Amino acid sequence: MDYDAIILGAGGAGLMAAATAGQAGARVLVIDHADKPGKKILISGGGRCNFTNMGVEAGCFLSDNPHFAKSALSRYTQWDFLDLVERHGIAWHEKTLGQLFCDGSAKQIVAMLLAECAAGGVDIRLGTQIGEIGHADGAFHVAGARARALVIATGGPSIPKMGATGIAYDIAERFGLGVVAPRPALVPLTLDPAEMPFQTMSGVACPAVATTAGVSFEEAALFTHRGLSGPAVLQASSYWHPGQPVSLNLWPDAAQALRAARRRMPRAHIKAALSEHLPKRLADAMDARIGLTTELANLSDAALDAAAANLTDLTLHPTGTEGYAKAEVTAGGIDTADLSSKTMEARKVPGLYSIGEAVDVTGWLGGYNFQWAWASGVAAGQAI
Ligand code: FDA
Repeated sequence: MDYDAIILGAGGAGLMAAATAGQAGARVLVIDHADKPGKKILISGGGRCNFTNMGVEAGCFLSDNPHFAKSALSRYTQWDFLDLVERHGIAWHEKTLGQLFCDGSAKQIVAMLLAECAAGGVDIRLGTQIGEIGHADGAFHVAGARARALVIATGGPSIPKMGATGIAYDIAERFGLGVVAPRPALVPLTLDPAEMPFQTMSGVACPAVATTAGVSFEEAALFTHRGLSGPAVLQASSYWHPGQPVSLNLWPDAAQALRAARRRMPRAHIKAALSEHLPKRLADAMDARIGLTTELANLSDAALDAAAANLTDLTLHPTGTEGYAKAEVTAGGIDTADLSSKTMEARKVPGLYSIGEAVDVTGWLGGYNFQWAWASGVAAGQAI
């Protein structure tokens, strides 16, 4: 046998699995069609890589089996990864909501993973097509190499222009593993201009609570020339399915605030009160939507409450998402029902492992997806 394991994909999950297995004594080959490893790490977090989150817990991940990720996440935690980062002398900081970033550059994370792979004697072949995968006599054959274990770490199809593909699903299906229908996640949502004149608000951001399918996220929302984005909406998008509405709470205490404005400036119109709280172009659009033309003093409590309801529950009906071209991750993927949660090995195909974004485990925005890549990579790397 040439190798103990061939790992398909030199992203976060593949490199972590390779380093772990290599340092435990396994002979490991990593294959990737890209010209450099860890391309998504390099562009992540605005070039500073939001490499984990202090609040990682299973509830921050979507999967058909919400329990699946628990084992790997508890055996390789955010603190373990932080420890590795510190051992490599990489300075870091918490930005917000427990999100940890490099002070310097995401390049440091890739360099760290490559150094860990080198310490484990891992061979990395870039610019290499996977081609046909052979499987006979307990060995996997890929690109002229042979190994007793094969790890699918080729991620999902988000951002195809970076070389992302859905090959993980093809390989899984070839070996009889199920695939939960993949869909773009952490992705901007598109709106019908007839529902909201969002084009006039392109670039406007404001704090909001975005709710869909009973799940809420409080962060910034951003109006784009095609619809909605910003962290609150990206988070909600992972839970959104076609046909579902999305509600934005733009001003949680709007009802009291509008009554207070009526007392304070009775001769003003509601637009003046909106402008005190919302960015100007959003205030204009909400004023038009509310459609009250008389002075505040002439508005009844009921009229103000109805106006406030527009602000606390701006219900919109997205027409779709901006698709894989703009999706930070892919939800769905290789069905966890066919994998061991301890080792990531396929139950029916000994020696075949699936890790990272290729698997039906999708994290929230904020470092959760990398933590899943590290943790699932370590779980497989230890088992190989
Ligand atoms: P990943 O996609 O990283 O790696 C897969 C590898 O397989 C790639 O190297 C690819 O070239 C290779 N490959 C694919 N198809 C192949 C084929 N057909 N043949 C050969 N090789 C193939 N997450 C987070 O936690 N914090 C963050 O800050 C960000 N920021 C961020 C920004 C942007 C713009 C994006 C697009 C994504 C993020 N993410 C993120 C998400 C995060 O990047 C993602 O979840 C992980 O990179 C997934 O790691 P994997 O190793 O599973 O796949």
